[in-house]
Amino acid sequence: MTQPNPAVMHGAQSAMAKLASRQTQFIFNEWYVAAMAGEVNRTLFKRTILGRSIVFFRTQAGEAVAMDDRCAHRSYPLSASTLDGDTIVCRYHGIRYDAEGNWIEVPSQEKCPKNTGVRSYKLIEQGALIWIWMGDKTAADTAHMPTQPWMVASEWARTNGAMHLKGNYVSLHENLMDLTHLTYLHADTIGTPDYAKAQFDVVLNEHEFILRRNVVPTKLPPVWGKPTGLEGSETAARIAQSRFVAPSLHEVSVTFYESTLPAETRPEFQIKTAHLVTPETHSSTHYFILHGRNFALEDTAIGEFMHENLFAAFNEDVVGLALVEDALERADDEFYEISIGSDRASVAMRRYLKMRADSERAE
Ligand code: FES
Ligand SMILES: [Fe+2]
Repeated sequence: MTQPNPAVMHGAQSAMAKLASRQTQFIFNEWYVAAMAGEVNRTLFKRTILGRSIVFFRTQAGEAVAMDDRCAHRSYPLSASTLDGDTIVCRYHGIRYDAEGNWIEVPSQEKCPKNTGVRSYKLIEQGALIWIWMGDKTAADTAHMPTQPWMVASEWARTNGAMHLKGNYVSLHENLMDLTHLTYLHADTIGTPDYAKAQFDVVLNEHEFILRRNVVPTKLPPVWGKPTGLEGSETAARIAQSRFVAPSLHEVSVTFYESTLPAETRPEFQIKTAHLVTPETHSSTHYFILHGRNFALEDTAIGEFMHENLFAAFNEDVVGLALVEDALERADDEFYEISIGSDRASVAMRRYLKMRADSERAE
């Protein structure tokens, strides 16, 4: 390869500086998925979210609660302490916390200081998911949850799961935004050779970024060919849309049909996947997934078949992004990346994430 031209290198580096990356601050004033509902129960449970260690439990009445996992006295982890009714008793010197994170008893003295304790978090439980507002609790914006109607509607059947990703959350959003990679990274699962070359269009709104790709005619991989009955057809249609909804949610929607049938009468099958992206640290991400279909609602065997095959594919992303993370970790001062045409939506999305992080920081 020829040596990099210093002017090109400088231009590429300054363009990259405007995009969110693994170095960018986290965005706190947002809802993120903290856990699957079944993970939070009457046993103390800890999870790191946006670099903060947080302890969760359910009150006796069944409400999920969360607070910082570090005793305000001498930093003992509350997750390694004792759940007593709806309170946590620190296992080091016995200070007792209520479910709001306030001190309510200091055993070694008569009076308990008022307005003392640890930060607690606003949680909202919706179906299989528990969401957390990571910013100032009093500013929790419940009117703007990222939840999409299909994620809770009875017209959709859903399965869910979670994975742990050794990679930055920006890399995961970027992976989800441009499905060109299906042909290569998912060659053995959900990719087909024609996918990367298929026509696409991009919609860039103020804080919503969309890439649509129409793969027609095509042959569907078994994961969708079997459940839709289109397996074997050489003239199926696969209309895919990737949409960045929020820092915590990327939605992928796909419609399948037989392209040789009249539009008015042909059956159409839709799937949607909520890729729920929760940064753990700058180099790791909690990756929750809710997968929905609007057909074969009662057919659990179809649900299980799709779930198993899709999670095998999502695991390919987890493995691939860990390799990317390794390369990014080793990057030196001369490092830069070059974007291509199909990166337009993801570049706009990364610019938006950077702007959000910078403006929170300025506040
Ligand atoms: S560290 Fe928790 S009571 Fe002292
Ligand atoms: Fe993928």
